[in-house]
Amino acid sequence: MNLDDIDTVGVVGAGTMGAGIAQVAAVAGYDVVVRDVEQRFVDSGFGSIEGSLDRFVARGDLDRSAADDARDRIEGTTDLAALSGADLVVEAVTEELSVKQSVFGDLAESCSPETVLATNTSTLSITSIASVVDRPERVVGLHFMNPVPVMAGVEVVVGEHTSEATVDIAHAFAERLDKETWEADDKPGFVVNRVLMPWINEGIRAYDEGVAEKGDVDRGLRLGTNVPMGPLELADHVGLDVVLDASETLQAELGDRYRPAYLLKRKVEAGDLGKKTGAGFYEYE
Ligand code: 3HC
Repeated sequence: MNLDDIDTVGVVGAGTMGAGIAQVAAVAGYDVVVRDVEQRFVDSGFGSIEGSLDRFVARGDLDRSAADDARDRIEGTTDLAALSGADLVVEAVTEELSVKQSVFGDLAESCSPETVLATNTSTLSITSIASVVDRPERVVGLHFMNPVPVMAGVEVVVGEHTSEATVDIAHAFAERLDKETWEADDKPGFVVNRVLMPWINEGIRAYDEGVAEKGDVDRGLRLGTNVPMGPLELADHVGLDVVLDASETLQAELGDRYRPAYLLKRKVEAGDLGKKTGAGFYEYE
């Protein structure tokens, strides 16, 4: 299989990442089937896709008709078997190894042996996810960044048994979605989260230990290092639960330098998960 053999893309999970991946694949011209476990999650994914496409249209980056065509190329389902005809599947379900392994086991049963099975995991082992299928050479990491329709890059992660052909398709596919790629070995956090998570946690600690007001921690990093968001703003954007979960996985694998900040845990315990719940380090409408 090569890039030209890919017509239909499956996406498992219609949350923030899955919806974004479905959107960029459809805009690139692929037929997309996106699956979530309940219809209300599928509907919510379509809501965010439509909202995002509208933003592209509003700022003149996409014609209305192209946006409508992209929307029409996406089919929603609650049936994983509906992805059996996909040539490439991207899994974007919850960051739990057992859940991802179960999805991959089911995909391997219903999809062709040729289908590329990609995971959008942010920190889990590609090799471990691939261990449950009979074709680990077809399994690869395609780590998209949030918000997927806007961010320029995708990390391609190579598992122990991932074949060169699969890695090549992963790069080519992401490039077809108008993303630039880089490659990482299957080591905890790959490149981005290995570096980003301690940066976010250190920003939280700097605030919690009184180095500066939270707004100044963020302003300092924005103005001092030219990043679009400071660490607390970015934590709110990504989701505090996502940051905590990734940090704990990294800590388990790489040791104490990845210990999550105490204030991060406390906010997650309080249910203040960032933008998605209306409050994290900051408050949102
Ligand atoms: N769909 C379409 N357009 C969108 C959008 C979306 N989902 N989100 C933002 N935009 C557009 C806006 O319309 C706007 O366009 P314009 O400048 O032409 O008007 C532009 O993007 C900027 O958006 P906003 O004005 O609303 O806000 P910002 O200027 O603050 O940009 C941001 C928002 C793009 C999120 C920017 O702040 C940013 O790049 N932040 C950093 C995000 C980041 O680092 N993401 C990676 C996190 S790590 C990760 O995902 C890995 C995971 O495993 C944890």
